[in-house]
Amino acid sequence: MALIHGGQLQQIAQKYQTPAEQWLDLSTGIAPLSYPIPDIPLNIWQDLPQQNNDLLTAAKHYYQCEHLIVTNGSQAIIKALPELWQKKQNTLTLDNKDPAHCAHHVYLPQYGYKEHAQAWRNAGYSLHFYLDELPVIDDIQANSVLVIINPNNPTGLLFTNETLLTYQKVIENLNGLLVVDEAFMDVIPTNNSICSQVANSNTLVFRSFGKFFGLAGIRIGFLVANQSWCEAFNEHLGPWQVNGPAQLIALHALHDSDWHQQQKQTLNILRNELEKLLWQYLGNNIISEIKGTDLFLTLSFNEASNINAESLYTLLCQQAVYVRLTDEKDKLRFGIPTQQQLIKLAKILQACI
Ligand SMILES: Cc1ncc(COP(=O)(O)O)c(C=O)c1O
Repeated sequence: MALIHGGQLQQIAQKYQTPAEQWLDLSTGIAPLSYPIPDIPLNIWQDLPQQNNDLLTAAKHYYQCEHLIVTNGSQAIIKALPELWQKKQNTLTLDNKDPAHCAHHVYLPQYGYKEHAQAWRNAGYSLHFYLDELPVIDDIQANSVLVIINPNNPTGLLFTNETLLTYQKVIENLNGLLVVDEAFMDVIPTNNSICSQVANSNTLVFRSFGKFFGLAGIRIGFLVANQSWCEAFNEHLGPWQVNGPAQLIALHALHDSDWHQQQKQTLNILRNELEKLLWQYLGNNIISEIKGTDLFLTLSFNEASNINAESLYTLLCQQAVYVRLTDEKDKLRFGIPTQQQLIKLAKILQACI
């Protein structure tokens, strides 16, 4: 069954019978300001996309890694991974003649981007969910997969580099696979990325391009891994995964360090203003906690309040404000608004609370 995500404005607009263009759409964690699209020569539209070595070099520099491949977003990799991991395990089983090498356990965050769990569940794996703490090391089974979303969407939970490296070693000794989804890492000032530490390990890091650069529509991203995993994915996915215009835009964007600094600063200011505004209009009678990153904020609700996540979601939809009600229906996630959108949101909150 298809999962529900933010960004379904047409559907929501129809449900609430308000034209899509009248909505304030804060339903995703995509930056509200996007990298300016450069001029794209006609031949880039006309030709089949080719391997772009300049893009690979720029991406290796930006992500600080040795090996990577260009993908059409992390989603494609999330979906393809269980089959590829199965293939790798089958090869190991044949080599070792030991069926225990085919363990079917995956550890995942209970709150988090649900496509990971869906992909492993559909492939027949046994899922084990963890909350704020990673699984107890002694409980992790041999040959299993550990998925970490760092920082987590929607909770904002962030693990340190040290913790990740400890688990990397544990998983390595267990012949398992570590998957780190760094979709929102670009805005973390302490840079907790482990991209520079995966070249010699069985670790995959997913980097989404669309969120920080505000260009989710062009569908481009990167998989950082060792050479063997990069080759396996390239072979599995086949040619022409990523269109030429997207590659050219990403090349410009990844090089532009002045823009990165500016974007980080702007997103941080807007996040702080949103947080202030939410406390001001909702207050601690309604909300108990705000967590997140500079690309989204997630609100938890006071149990004593007569407004909860679901009722506020409906109230906001009635005012043509679209935010994300979490899958558990107990939290609301707000994307970061522009200055103009903040003014509109303040007026609406003032009127409806
Ligand atoms: C944590 C996380 N990972 C991956 C994705 C997929 O991103 P994309 O396919 O655009 O790179 C999302 C999308 O919302 C996400 O929230």
